Amino acid sequence: MAKVREVILGVGGGIAAYKSCDLLRRLQERGYQVTVVPTPSSLNFVGAATWEALSGRAVTTQVWERVDEVRHISLANTADALIIAPATADLIARIAAGRADDLLTNLVLAIDVPILIVPAMHPQMWNDPATQSNVATLQSRGFSVMEPAIGRLTGSDIGQGRFPETNEIITKFEEVTEIEKDYFGKRVLITAGGTREAIDPVRYIGNRSSGRQGAAVARAARDRGAQVKMIFANAQLSPDEINDLSGIEIVSVETATEMFTALEEAFPKSDLLVMSAAVADARPSQYSEGKIKKGELRDIALVENPDLLKSIAKLRTKQIVVAFAAETNNDLAAAQAKMEAKGANILYLNNVSNGAIFGSLDTEGFIITSNGAPIPVPLTSKDTLAELLLDQALNQLG
Ligand code: CTP
Repeated sequence: MAKVREVILGVGGGIAAYKSCDLLRRLQERGYQVTVVPTPSSLNFVGAATWEALSGRAVTTQVWERVDEVRHISLANTADALIIAPATADLIARIAAGRADDLLTNLVLAIDVPILIVPAMHPQMWNDPATQSNVATLQSRGFSVMEPAIGRLTGSDIGQGRFPETNEIITKFEEVTEIEKDYFGKRVLITAGGTREAIDPVRYIGNRSSGRQGAAVARAARDRGAQVKMIFANAQLSPDEINDLSGIEIVSVETATEMFTALEEAFPKSDLLVMSAAVADARPSQYSEGKIKKGELRDIALVENPDLLKSIAKLRTKQIVVAFAAETNNDLAAAQAKMEAKGANILYLNNVSNGAIFGSLDTEGFIITSNGAPIPVPLTSKDTLAELLLDQALNQLG
């Protein structure tokens, strides 16, 4: 499945520019990060301030702005796809001729990603042989060009030239970029990281979970169109990995108790729970307000933490629940029994012997489901496992 996150929305100078405000919003709702690049003349219809406010990103139209960033190249290198909507006859002609007289046309030359052109203009201009020949040129170069819709135009006349409906543009865009938003409309809740149970103000009982697997599931679900919330305990991620979580709602917690409170709040509003957090099985029975002196740090009395997954699964109405089990063996029968005991529908059994998996980018194990034979997962990335788990969960979500 292709991963398209960063989209550039090029806007040409036609009256339909105002309709692209809605297109921008709908793209954002589907989890895309959008940078708007209007042509200078399009600002007569929709100003840069509108685009900046809606996209939350800087908007420039010429290569002479923000020169230090060399924006036509930096945008070209970070984008996964480009939509030009509306594309006017003039803009189509300039692109067909390979001109580079504003930021957008520079970008078109520099970029190497799927490009969707959405023309909108008066039917007489659309049907003019010059425009038709330019469109054919673009198509021969691999651009996807939508047919304008037929209907009422700005004036009183009717014909082919209208800007298509937003949902048609998005459908076409996702077809062109081969994206499947199979989680659109689903709410996915993910716990990640490892809880820490304080002994005193300085020390805690913790574990080696980095939160990487949970983060991978969160990103994958977001990219497949889900609305994602993450309850994250003590993330051990790099700044880049944290940045990659944009568009995901994150609730930070420290202890198992805090995680449970957050789960109780969010679970009823979710369709899928992925319980990837490593929850400490026990916590110190007493928290010491003062730092315990090393001479007195001999025995720490523990009290068992509740099994969050088991407790929350009991509140289930329609939710699908995915559990993880980190074991030092591949005992499938025991894993199946654990899944059932916890009330989960799917369990990923990973073998963590010899320090494997924790903190790593890779994983290896078995996906156990309540409705089929165990699926072996040979050594693969946590991103791939995330996709596999989401595929399984979607089967059961129906
Ligand atoms: N889990 C939980 N609450 C706990 C412990 C674990 O919700 N107090 C969840 C984890 O998030 C994970 C799953 O249960 O999805 C499996 O955890 P694991 O530690 O393998 O199972 P335990 O029930 O602790 O069993 P064991 O005695 O084998 O450690």
